[in-house]
Amino acid sequence: REAATRELVLGRIRDVPDHPKPGVVFKDITPLLADPEAFTALTDWFAGLCVRHGATKVVGLEARGFILAAPVAVSAGLGFVPVRKAGKLPGATLGQAYDLEYGSAEIEVHAEDLAAGDRVMVIDDVLATGGTAGASLELIRRAGAEVAGVAVLMELGFLGGRARLETALGGAPLDAL
Ligand code: PRP
Repeated sequence: REAATRELVLGRIRDVPDHPKPGVVFKDITPLLADPEAFTALTDWFAGLCVRHGATKVVGLEARGFILAAPVAVSAGLGFVPVRKAGKLPGATLGQAYDLEYGSAEIEVHAEDLAAGDRVMVIDDVLATGGTAGASLELIRRAGAEVAGVAVLMELGFLGGRARLETALGGAPLDAL
């Protein structure tokens, strides 16, 4: 079943060379989103992981992670929590900075959305360097919640994100379709 899902879903991802800059091959998920059969199969795959890993909440990482994580939360019957780029959320936030190739970035979550007793599944489209996902795991732990796992559609293995996440995962699973 997972092999069939993989073929259906990955077959709808378009490689766009030299976007957003020369030398980068961009993984465009819009053909997948436009295909209800493939999008549903992907949502079901993520939702199955939420059940298997005992998640009680779903975090989506801005922006493409929102598109994937929100239907998973609804289908799994779990609350959805957006982790946003700094400066967007109106309430009291927890923030976490992380390193980029040049410079740094910061993500935030509403402090009231995560608490002790929550087991949180982080969902995103791509794991690249692991900086964004790693920072989200820090936020979850600082909020007093537990990490159920990280699940991504695509892992760009050559960028070493899995190794970088190892400490932050603390034994929690990292699944990539
Ligand atoms: C991309 C992607 C992940 C992140 C992965 O998001 O959707 O969230 O980068 O990179 P990393 O593993 O090196 O941290 P991006 O910042 O491009 O945001 P977007 O979804 O808003 O386009």
